[in-house]
Amino acid sequence: MDTADLEARLDIAAALAREAGRCALGFFRGDGLRIRLKGRDDPVTAADLAADDLIRAGIRRAFARDGILSEESGGNDADIMWVVDPIDGTHNFSRGIARFAVSIAVCENGRPVCGVVHDPAADELFSARVGGGAFLNGRAIAASAAAAPTETLIEAGYSAKFGWQAYHAMTGRLLEAGFGVRQAGSAALGLAEVACGRIDGYCEERLESWDVAAASLLVSEAGGVVNDFFAGDGLRRGGPIVAGAAGIWNELAAASALSVKA
Ligand code: IPD
Repeated sequence: MDTADLEARLDIAAALAREAGRCALGFFRGDGLRIRLKGRDDPVTAADLAADDLIRAGIRRAFARDGILSEESGGNDADIMWVVDPIDGTHNFSRGIARFAVSIAVCENGRPVCGVVHDPAADELFSARVGGGAFLNGRAIAASAAAAPTETLIEAGYSAKFGWQAYHAMTGRLLEAGFGVRQAGSAALGLAEVACGRIDGYCEERLESWDVAAASLLVSEAGGVVNDFFAGDGLRRGGPIVAGAAGIWNELAAASALSVKA
């Protein structure tokens, strides 16, 4: 795709993320959530499904020939693929915690080329296009200048789907190496915070492409480093993620002991 094609898709992604964000806020802390588990530690709510419907309908209206891969409704195969998480941080959302995001990316031949992460509760929209930089509400952002683990605050994401033992061992190594570690429940927002320098790194044993497609592009376009999640068939299979400021990425990757290459 050329720049005009990417910009056209980025505009639609931003508009749909804002619309989905308004939809999610309409359900937030309300009585109509209808939470159910679709797997271990994997909740879905009426808001996830409503936001997913409106995003998919909007993509079909604007770019009928593009494919769509969504956390809530699966996908088909296409060279140009929209990768959608209507609500990343569903646990937080379902418990009334205002830390969740809408994530929409466009991938070409299996790699993200533009995307947005929208935090509706904070009215923040992060956006990036490959080669075009990363932005927060239209202003350029950059990853932090952290140069040593002891200067950092990072997030180590966790899902009970993959067991606590490896997480326990990983956070032990990170803390021993001097990293400041927290866990906040939205991979997309954690990575967006790496991109704007609020935190210095993010790692997690295993994520799906809809969690990271938009946000990993934010990190690389903001001058941070992120492992090659989309190598091979990362789009379909998912994998580990290690993202961080350039000055601490090597130490973060080593302490995480995840199998990643920049
Ligand atoms: C989850 C969040 C969480 C991460 C989990 C993801 P979801 O996504 O991003 O922070 O640690 O691994 O599954 O289910 O809320 O969209």
